[in-house]
Amino acid sequence: MFIDTHCHLSKEDNIDELINRCTKNGVDALIISGCDKKGIIEGLEIIEEYSNIYMTIGFHPSEVNTTTDEDIAWLEKLIKENKKIIGIGEIGLDYYWERDNKESQKELFEKQLTLAEKLNLPIVIHSREATQDTYNILKKHRLKGIIHCYSGSLEMAREYIKLGYYLGIGGVLTFKNSNLKDVVKEISLDNITLETDSPYLAPTPYRGSKNSPEYIPIIAEKIAEIKETTMEEIASRTTKNVHTLFDLKIHI
Ligand code: NI
Repeated sequence: MFIDTHCHLSKEDNIDELINRCTKNGVDALIISGCDKKGIIEGLEIIEEYSNIYMTIGFHPSEVNTTTDEDIAWLEKLIKENKKIIGIGEIGLDYYWERDNKESQKELFEKQLTLAEKLNLPIVIHSREATQDTYNILKKHRLKGIIHCYSGSLEMAREYIKLGYYLGIGGVLTFKNSNLKDVVKEISLDNITLETDSPYLAPTPYRGSKNSPEYIPIIAEKIAEIKETTMEEIASRTTKNVHTLFDLKIHI
């Protein structure tokens, strides 16, 4: 079985059909990321309804200007009330979209890392054009998690792994001009989790169209090719990693 460790679903998606297509492709569990208020509220309804969908919650750096301390307290309350919220994320730093508020982004990030420490939960990290600051902050904390949509250097990958992080590998791996292949080739399967980041970043040959968790095997196939191993091996090793990191009460 495969697990998509990072995707965004909306109530407008036909989730019954989506789950059927995922099951056909061997994708048996999903972890959705609720990273703004609307996404969190919708996600809570989705995880209530579907036994094999779990959730991480947290405020994305793009939410920095509207997130208050009360909102962070709300996250804590939700996490304590709901066993299917299994981590905090996606949280982090984004200097691609937002450059003029680095300090407040760091502050929001730190607050959510403190919450993760308090609740002893893994984290899911969003880092875009902010590698050094992200790394420096994570180094100060003793947390575990996933570097979502990893697309950095091999050297940086090794540093994150040393800190106890998995690399979330998604559709970017299938892009023709991606250097991620060289990273995946050198790092162990013990440090990789699979993700789609749907509806964004669809893998080749669906690049540019709406992504879906059912495409996880396309990413797994690419990893199998790079690692010269089987799809079964990719499935079992990456699923084991997910269970090591997250407390998934899986009933499937
Ligand atoms: Ni995402």
